[in-house]
Amino acid sequence: MTMEVEIGVERLRLARLPTPIEALERRSRVLGREIHVKRDDLTDTLASGNKIRKLEFALAAARRAGADTLITCGAAQSNHARATAVLGIRCGFAVRLVLLGDAEDRDRGNHLIDRILGARIRYIDAAGWKRRAAIMAEEAEEVARAGGQAWVLPEGGSDEIGTLGYLRAALEIRAQEEATGRRFDHLVCALGTGGTMAGLAAGFALAGRGPRVHGICVCNDADYFAARTAPLYEAVARRWLPELDPRRCRPEIVEGYKGLGYGISDENARAGLLELAREEGLILDPVYTMKAWMGLCGLIEDGTIAPGETVLFLHSGGLFGLLGRGDEFRDC
Ligand SMILES: Cc1ncc(COP(=O)(O)O)c(C=O)c1O
Repeated sequence: MTMEVEIGVERLRLARLPTPIEALERRSRVLGREIHVKRDDLTDTLASGNKIRKLEFALAAARRAGADTLITCGAAQSNHARATAVLGIRCGFAVRLVLLGDAEDRDRGNHLIDRILGARIRYIDAAGWKRRAAIMAEEAEEVARAGGQAWVLPEGGSDEIGTLGYLRAALEIRAQEEATGRRFDHLVCALGTGGTMAGLAAGFALAGRGPRVHGICVCNDADYFAARTAPLYEAVARRWLPELDPRRCRPEIVEGYKGLGYGISDENARAGLLELAREEGLILDPVYTMKAWMGLCGLIEDGTIAPGETVLFLHSGGLFGLLGRGDEFRDC
């Protein structure tokens, strides 16, 4: 794997970048706004989606620290856990996953890929999830007792190192804007653990220009995400980029599109997913990107995205998650 130094920080080149920006011509006509999609579902086949950009920086840091094992956590169908397993193994690390749930859906979606890759899996229940940091620390101690060295990543990879992934993506989008002469007024993305939105907001602040960033909550609420992301801007500025002014990182956090709750899709979301798939050949996932898409439609309806304005929708992946929930689409 090639190591590069960008924005003053080491990064492993793992993703196929830059990802393309494509027009959604038919949906744009229906919605009366020019909508483009940033195809971050195309960052890789197995490690597809948004997590790979965060992992490029995290795995470089792990390697620099001399770690030989990666430990992370997530739901049994976690996209982040799967991407960490793929890239960890590709880069020569052993991988341990702490997964909320049990082996019930082990033959589907992300969970299947984790197992095919031979990641070591420890299942935890809801009470264990509250203690996930301690459980990952126990795993790290076990690695150390066996003479190894672990590197622990939080859920979603959303710490300050992970934030650099989407900070860099914002600079990539700015370069694409410059190259094409097209400017986006708004960017819409899903908010799951916050690192993607935070990185984008920081990157556009650093560039001194960029679209308004709308993060659509798929879990928790705006206060939670505001509190979770504020320290990320501070830490990025303090550790690597003193020219970044955290006060200029001001994404707009949007509530109201969680539906029945995190990870639960309803009739509306499923119908929307099918509509977009059949009209544009673009497949979203029920947990993250579909809810973000519904948020985008809501922002058009309430006038936040005005007629004549341009929108960039971040397709952050999730296909394996969808393939883990095929039973919800039995009737289509
Ligand atoms: C497919 C997909 N899209 C979006 C997100 C949200 O990104 P973040 O966790 O950085 O907020 C996630 C993970 O949480 C994801 O797996």
